[in-house]
Amino acid sequence: MPQDAAGLPVRYNVGGVLLERPFRIQRLGHFGFNVDDVEASLEFYSGVLGLRVTDVLDLAPRFPAPGVPAHIRQTKAYFLNHGTDHHSFALFPKPVLDALGGRNERSDILVNQISWQVGCLQEVRDALDWQQQQGNKIHRIGRDMPGSNWHNYPYDAGGHVNEIYYGMEQIGWNLRSKPRTMYERGFKSRPDLPQVSEYEELRLSEANGVDLSAGHRIHEQWPLDHNVAGVLLARPFKVDKIGPVRLWARDIDAEVDCYTRLFGLRITEEATWKGHRCVFLRANSEHHSLAIYPQALQGKLGLPTVSSCLSFGLRVGSYQQLRDCIAFLEKRGVEIRHLPQELLPGMDYTAFAIDPQGHAVQLYAYMENIGWDGKPRPPGARRQVTHGAPWPEALEPMSDEGDGEVFLGPLG
Ligand SMILES: [Fe+2]
Repeated sequence: MPQDAAGLPVRYNVGGVLLERPFRIQRLGHFGFNVDDVEASLEFYSGVLGLRVTDVLDLAPRFPAPGVPAHIRQTKAYFLNHGTDHHSFALFPKPVLDALGGRNERSDILVNQISWQVGCLQEVRDALDWQQQQGNKIHRIGRDMPGSNWHNYPYDAGGHVNEIYYGMEQIGWNLRSKPRTMYERGFKSRPDLPQVSEYEELRLSEANGVDLSAGHRIHEQWPLDHNVAGVLLARPFKVDKIGPVRLWARDIDAEVDCYTRLFGLRITEEATWKGHRCVFLRANSEHHSLAIYPQALQGKLGLPTVSSCLSFGLRVGSYQQLRDCIAFLEKRGVEIRHLPQELLPGMDYTAFAIDPQGHAVQLYAYMENIGWDGKPRPPGARRQVTHGAPWPEALEPMSDEGDGEVFLGPLG
């Protein structure tokens, strides 16, 4: 870490508190995959799992003349959400990104971005300056439309694009995103501060005659015939939180150093499995929102090995919903896999659904919460899951059952 003239760690005043970095990551905000068949993945994540499409971005205009290469069938990227954030998940067409170039990634990285929320625009810009001072490479900076969030995109040690952002557009009761006529406030460079508020942007757009109802509207394609805790939804469950992300690391020490030193994530717990170190990191009070596994274990866990991402997590609203979700997926032919509990500390009943690209989507309803002393629950005090055994109808509650990030607003 940077040191001052006296050899002491440099500290930064963040909102009146002295921290080791000029920003503090608050949570995993969104995540994305680059996929070969974006329409098939969309049907899985939106149709089967119920994430909602909030915007569609056609990348075809980004090709210079003579235009889109003949081998590319799908040019659209999709933004999806589960709550009020404009997007908590994104799907991008890999053939388009490959053809356009510029991301300079390993061929086994299919993660589009791992995006972390900070509390204010000042922290986004200070994080950019600080990470550059530390020598970290930044993919790009600015403010993207769709989504309206201010950001910079630093890399991790393995080359995954991360994002530090603030100010995600919120989608409310009328299910509409901002219209494209409000996109003139997009940025592609380091912003001067201060910037006007979103309130002022909205006022100026209204004064300029912008039709605020012209943005993309969420549409549910499936019949609303499942009673989910008293509300009729299109599926027997509701995704209410994203994460954790699990990555394979070629150099686990370098990857953990990057996420702790440059991003400020905290190590909750480490596990050793078949002699290999696995590390679980948190941004907030969740046991982990990021887990790093050594690449030496890839291919040894019974999961497809399609990329550097072991899995992406989606939490559902309850244990009952989790059981109903797994049955719903199995009925539709989705492959379900399980991992030993030792590889998933802080979690108990959980399953992995295989998406059309071959990525594992981790489904769960409970994750341990970490308090002021930063200590995880001792392994012996956790709910024990017998690998391969049937799950119980109902569970005894844990002391932190239902704690942590809660879902805001109606379920659907
Ligand atoms: Fe993003």
